[in-house]
Amino acid sequence: MTESINTKIFPKDFLWGASASAFQIEGRYENDGKGLATTDLATRKSGMADTDTAADFVNHYKEDITLMKEMGLKIYRMGFSWSRIMPDETMNPNPEGLAFYDKVIDALLAAGIEPFVTLYHFECPQALVEAFGGWKSRKMIDHYTAYAKICFTHFKGRVKKWATVNEQLIAASAPDLNGNFEKDPHLFQKNIWQMHWHISVAEHKAFALLKKIDPQAVIGPVCSIQVVYPLTCSPADVEAAAHAEELMEFSLLDLSARGKWSPYVVHYLKSHDLYPTCDESDAEVMASRPDFIGVNYYFSICAKEKTGPVNYNLPPFWVSDAYDIAGNPYLEKTEWMNMGIDPDGLKNGIEKIILRYSLPVIVTENGMAASEKIGKDGKVHDDYRISYLSQHIEKIAELLEEGWPVKGYCPWSFIDVISSHQGFAKRYGFVYIDREEKDLKEGKRIRKDSFGWYRNLIKECLEGK
Ligand code: BG6
Repeated sequence: MTESINTKIFPKDFLWGASASAFQIEGRYENDGKGLATTDLATRKSGMADTDTAADFVNHYKEDITLMKEMGLKIYRMGFSWSRIMPDETMNPNPEGLAFYDKVIDALLAAGIEPFVTLYHFECPQALVEAFGGWKSRKMIDHYTAYAKICFTHFKGRVKKWATVNEQLIAASAPDLNGNFEKDPHLFQKNIWQMHWHISVAEHKAFALLKKIDPQAVIGPVCSIQVVYPLTCSPADVEAAAHAEELMEFSLLDLSARGKWSPYVVHYLKSHDLYPTCDESDAEVMASRPDFIGVNYYFSICAKEKTGPVNYNLPPFWVSDAYDIAGNPYLEKTEWMNMGIDPDGLKNGIEKIILRYSLPVIVTENGMAASEKIGKDGKVHDDYRISYLSQHIEKIAELLEEGWPVKGYCPWSFIDVISSHQGFAKRYGFVYIDREEKDLKEGKRIRKDSFGWYRNLIKECLEGK
């Protein structure tokens, strides 16, 4: 299924990669010194697979990196677990945690694969939530900065690409990830915007810090891009879609890349009594800039004119009196991709970002979820994933043909991981992890059909260059 992709357009230095986070794959080992993270508690409570084993990467990392090499990956987008490196509020680093990542980073480098590390991917140290409420408190800025400093210093020269925060929209919205269990719906939303401000100030401190510690390295945010179409061409629907994108995506990217909100967002937050408390010193901190923007994209959505009362039972970022979110009747839907499959959304989402910020983009996540089992032949035939990925890569090729600065593509996920809320029932990987929700089995690694397909695609794109 590579015929439709213009494989010749990809430059030799295009970053062909794959992604994962720390909590979704790592698991624990004896005396690891890791502190609890919000994600540990959330997955334990879920009754599904939890982070104690996850994909057992801690015991399989050598094998997994060998598979990455076999696949021809040039880059691996991975996560560090904050509470593995800094387990509690003392800010003292955990030598065991650093030693574990030393082994992983060195094995990647020895395999010729560049590590691209996300500092904070949903797993907030539980000790900080208990000590002062996590991101609701400004204290978190110092903790994140201290953690970033340790990472930048310790891995200087070995890690040359960093992502500050994965999907700030989700990290600040999901109570099980950040500990914002406020019951009052208005205060709940107010806390979210306060957390956004603190996360953004912390992120800017990290941008500046990296430039001081390792000027050769690059850094950027990873955004869960929200491609929002108007449900109809009625001007009210068009306006609702624009405002939905502004509030869910550009509000956060504007903070990352411009250091301030648009007039619409400032007005919206002030008129809804959601504007956060800021410090005078923040303006100077917010002046630092990222080097690129990481884009996570799975599907697009539609918005229409708001009618009726605000529904507080929706995901927090859909709760607004500025728009109603709707499904798209034109898209093919599957069991887990219930908003529909829309490769064009990836293309127009990236175009908007590059136009607004004049920064290069790396696709840091994009993938197809499915319920999967090993077939009678011992294999996993995931032709639907090959189809999904090839349609999206086709759009990357079109962007390159048109001259847009897209530097890499890291689909989600290299191996099967614990899904954010559906355990191992929902899988995205190129490599099947043989475990059930509770039955850990041996965690055997099985290449799915998409593994060979992606390997061949990378090879074809690099051939003759
Ligand atoms: C992104 C996250 O939101 O999407 C990943 O960065 C997550 O951590 C992925 O796993 C897929 O979402 P889900 O909910 O299907 O696991």
